[in-house]
Amino acid sequence: MMISDSLLSKGEALALKLGGLFDSAGYSRYRMNRFEDYDLYAANREFLGQGQVITFTDVSGRLLAMKPDVTLSVIKDLGDSAGNGVCHVRYDENVFREDRDAGSFREIRQVGAELFGEITENDVISLIRLAGESMRLISDKSVLAISSLYLIRSAARTAGIPDAFFGSVIRAFDRHDVASLGALSEKDTTPLIVLSGISGSMPDVLGQLSEFVSAYGLDDGGFCRLLSKASEVSPVGIKVDFSVVGNEKFYSGVVFRGMAEGIPVPCLRGGEYGLLMKKLGKRGSAVGFAVYTDTVERTDGFCGEKPLSVAIPKGRLGEKVREIFTRAGYDCPADEKNSRKLVFDSADGRLRFSMVKPSDVAVYVERGAADIGVVGKDVLLEHDSDVLELLDLGIGRCSVAVAAPAGFSDDGAGRLRVATKFPRIAKYYYASRGRDIDCVTLNGSIELAPLLGLSDVIVDIVETGTTLKENGLEIVDRFTDISARLICGKASRLFRGEEIRELCEGLAAVTGGGAG
Ligand code: PRP
Repeated sequence: MMISDSLLSKGEALALKLGGLFDSAGYSRYRMNRFEDYDLYAANREFLGQGQVITFTDVSGRLLAMKPDVTLSVIKDLGDSAGNGVCHVRYDENVFREDRDAGSFREIRQVGAELFGEITENDVISLIRLAGESMRLISDKSVLAISSLYLIRSAARTAGIPDAFFGSVIRAFDRHDVASLGALSEKDTTPLIVLSGISGSMPDVLGQLSEFVSAYGLDDGGFCRLLSKASEVSPVGIKVDFSVVGNEKFYSGVVFRGMAEGIPVPCLRGGEYGLLMKKLGKRGSAVGFAVYTDTVERTDGFCGEKPLSVAIPKGRLGEKVREIFTRAGYDCPADEKNSRKLVFDSADGRLRFSMVKPSDVAVYVERGAADIGVVGKDVLLEHDSDVLELLDLGIGRCSVAVAAPAGFSDDGAGRLRVATKFPRIAKYYYASRGRDIDCVTLNGSIELAPLLGLSDVIVDIVETGTTLKENGLEIVDRFTDISARLICGKASRLFRGEEIRELCEGLAAVTGGGAG
């Protein structure tokens, strides 16, 4: 029986088409229950990434979980024959995952294709081609963004970073956080910093990447060759992007994401994950991807003809930012400076500025409502925003510090009461020192808290030090330097990379910063 597309949501229609595509490519359907033994997840926690799992006890007393993942179950259920040849599996399952922003769990539909066993380079290429065909079903304006954890690991070893710190390397790549990469080793971290900044379309970027690999004598595990072959067969464009990383404990080789223009989050995620096969006692390796069909439900469509959208922080910092943009040749209309209008275009119409509360800038950029933005590093650290740092603009310089009334000393007894606008930064600071705290989160005038006995110390921004001085407080430890950063959304860099690169270079030229 044919089902009319008009009766289905966009996501449901896509899931049906993907099922047909995977069937015709020779993948066999794997089906599983909503529930799985909790033990499977408890024993393989590192492969699941962060987040809680919904558990319950069934009538026989067994601890079960609402499945947060499909691949673990598929591998567990693989027969021993999986080691001889390659096993092609497809699935269409709902998983249950924690949604931090919503403070609850979400049911997510995943339509996936996986290969298990003695996988060759040609198998990986054919899977990438299938991923490209899947993205093509979503939109003709879509791309596959690819990187290699194998190559990143090779560059990290060259920079003298022990494997135990590879997680920190990956987190810095995820955000293109050059300062953190530089701080990870006393040796030369240039190869990592350069690699983190390599991005662009295939085949144009291949020369740069190959030169980089040979200049530092790195082992790329065949990544350059794979890129070149995959881009010949993929029906959608392939872009190299080393901010595509995922969970480094799960992925081991090539990692990719499918992005469609107008959808700020990946519609498809995948890569090579041989470590899990080994852990579950199976022979060979694994590579696969899942399409998140719900992501296509709310598509804003093609947005390439619009001016580049820039979120500027309101207030003191905003004035300096406007000046920098103007000096770089992106004029902010002078007569708008004192108006209450929140959105306005640059004189040449290339940029559309929005005036945003400083702490909200990264939210607009992360969710694709703005392509780029300017935000203090303090806000990025506090919100752990999933955006790329492009440039240190060198303005809004200050520090994050612990301060206390003159003469205060922490005797280590009881819980230290800490008042702050930055609970995440404060908790991280004290947790790394093993000090138990009672964190009091406030919205401003933090210096008041110890004066009124609300806290023992504060963790706050110090710029000139005047506010501390006038309120009888002294710095105990100045621990992080802050400045304003130019940030961009991950989807925006993929679809508007050239415009963003040009803007970034223009701003770097007037601020003296290095464009990433
Ligand atoms: C910030 C910060 C300090 C002050 C530090 O507050 O929280 O209170 O600036 O600057 P200084 O070292 O130059 O004195 P902000 O002005 O943003 O206002 P708030 O207290 O309302 O957060």
